[in-house]
Amino acid sequence: MIFNKRTHTCGELNAVSIGETVTLNGWVAKKRDLGGLYFIDLRDRYGITQLKITPENKDLHSRVTKIGNEYVISCSGKVVSRESANKNIKTGEIEVEVSELQVLNESLITPFVVEEDIKANEDLRLQYRYLDLRRKKVLDNLILRNTIYQIVHNYFSDFNFIEVETPILMKSTPEGARDYLVPSRVHKGKFYALPQSPQTYKQILMVSGLDRYVQICKCFRDEDLRADRQPEFTQIDIEMSFVTQEDIFQLSEGLFRKIWHETIQYELPEKFPQLTYDDALNNYGIDKPDMRIKELMVIRKLTECFANTEFKVFKDVVETDGIIAGIKINVNDSNEKIEITRKISDSYTDYIKKFGFSGLAFLKVNENDEIQSSILKFLNENEIISLKNKLALQKGDYAFIISGKKSLVLNGLGQLRLKIAEDFNLLDNKKHEFVWITDFPLFNYDDETDRYAGEHHVFTSPKDEYMKFLDSKEKEEILSIRANCYDLVYNGNEIGSGSIRIHNSDIQKKVFNIIGLTDDEANEKFGFILEAFKYGAPPHGGVAFGFDRLVAMLCGTKSIRDVIAFPKTVSAASLMDNAPGFVSVEQLNDLGVSLIKL
Ligand code: AMO
Repeated sequence: MIFNKRTHTCGELNAVSIGETVTLNGWVAKKRDLGGLYFIDLRDRYGITQLKITPENKDLHSRVTKIGNEYVISCSGKVVSRESANKNIKTGEIEVEVSELQVLNESLITPFVVEEDIKANEDLRLQYRYLDLRRKKVLDNLILRNTIYQIVHNYFSDFNFIEVETPILMKSTPEGARDYLVPSRVHKGKFYALPQSPQTYKQILMVSGLDRYVQICKCFRDEDLRADRQPEFTQIDIEMSFVTQEDIFQLSEGLFRKIWHETIQYELPEKFPQLTYDDALNNYGIDKPDMRIKELMVIRKLTECFANTEFKVFKDVVETDGIIAGIKINVNDSNEKIEITRKISDSYTDYIKKFGFSGLAFLKVNENDEIQSSILKFLNENEIISLKNKLALQKGDYAFIISGKKSLVLNGLGQLRLKIAEDFNLLDNKKHEFVWITDFPLFNYDDETDRYAGEHHVFTSPKDEYMKFLDSKEKEEILSIRANCYDLVYNGNEIGSGSIRIHNSDIQKKVFNIIGLTDDEANEKFGFILEAFKYGAPPHGGVAFGFDRLVAMLCGTKSIRDVIAFPKTVSAASLMDNAPGFVSVEQLNDLGVSLIKL
């Protein structure tokens, strides 16, 4: 294809082009004046080319003096060899000796310098996002995002998936977060909701017989935001009929293998490991364990070592059905030098207090293979031996022990494990550890509202062996129900979630009843899906992956804002266009909406 305004982009010319006459368009990234000899770094999406303007051409020269950074210019000239080559850029061997130059547009002095080593704070960069997007680093993230987009489309197309767009204006169906609502002008007093995910639509597409659905779709959730959460974000959303959990794992693993291979040339294993939810919590204290540190510090229960203890702190816990558990830091297994001083262990005690503990026991095994700890004086010989065996303590090792309510202890040690791993650089970024977490509970229980809620979502099917508990009134039995539900975790981040669904309206109704919906309420909110299930719903299941999180991980950034063209701040504001904004009284009147004073 021939373009008339430019012959080349700014990332294209090299030694082979020397002697050619070219026309380039782009932005002035930098202008240097070496005593009348001007050099301009001309930037576009593809790179930077150095322009040289000599004083001989008076007219040209005087125009260049007026050009500032970020001006858009067009220039023509001859490609020549550069005196001092810059090996860091593709065009570093050449420069263009400018013979003609035209300013296509001027620029105000920018609020921050558009440079790779950016000094401006994030709010300013978000306000002037179009300038921030001129930086290679941010642009590269969007380019990688696009590459992954294409890989995903091709992968699913090869497996005969159909991409279907589902509605953005839908019925509000409670799903975990708050809905973003859109008032209807035509149906006054009624509201659409923006989809928290296309969950119900993709299931209904299975009832329609589409068999394999995929969509890279936008989801909207009004929830507390953080680095890995945006109010609107993108999912790779998948649903399939007549599948097992293993089928979905296989398909997903293939997708991740392809993405990792084609983007960072990293070969992921043929099969990803699996861990049940209970094992994840018991061993790592968290349902998204970071498996990069699996050899170190798996949580060990120590309650039985202290069954008859006289140490009051532990005794109280044993008598009140709590647990005592610990982690060891195996210095010999680690490549990093780990030395935990008194000061560091004190800082961990402070850290653990945030999770509801009054103390943390610290142990060290010295050169003579003896345990040193301030709690030692409270323990008898047998307890010390049994503790040492249980934690497999060896010379040089450290250990931390806490006691209390089981869920608190596991969470506390889980968090401490991560903190130590971070502090001692045990989280190797070159490792790519995926793990499926399976067998989640079907329900959780919220003490504050005194209600059950779906741990994943209410369309998740219970495992066959727990089906009988759907009729139970016993809290313990209901909470023991395990679901055909799974998460994919990558280096300690939840990257996706899914489940095999309920496809029978009676079972679905029972689940609605347990979460506190009467038959009438269930019909009002979910009647359409209950009805659809009566017309030959096939067994089906699916999964959704957080696309922004996936891209952020491959870009090596913790914040998904870095991989979204126009992200929102943690208070869900868009600083560039000032959304959300006020609307006129006329608009509100049209919608039949009036504002209350807060
Ligand atoms: P879930 O709610 O677990 O499942 O979401 C799937 C994945 O989406 C990503 N994610 C987010 N990313 C950025 N910002 C957010 N606010 C945000 N919330 C979630 C996470 C998460 O693992 N319909 C079900 C899927 C299914 O059952 O098929 C669902 O949406 O990476």
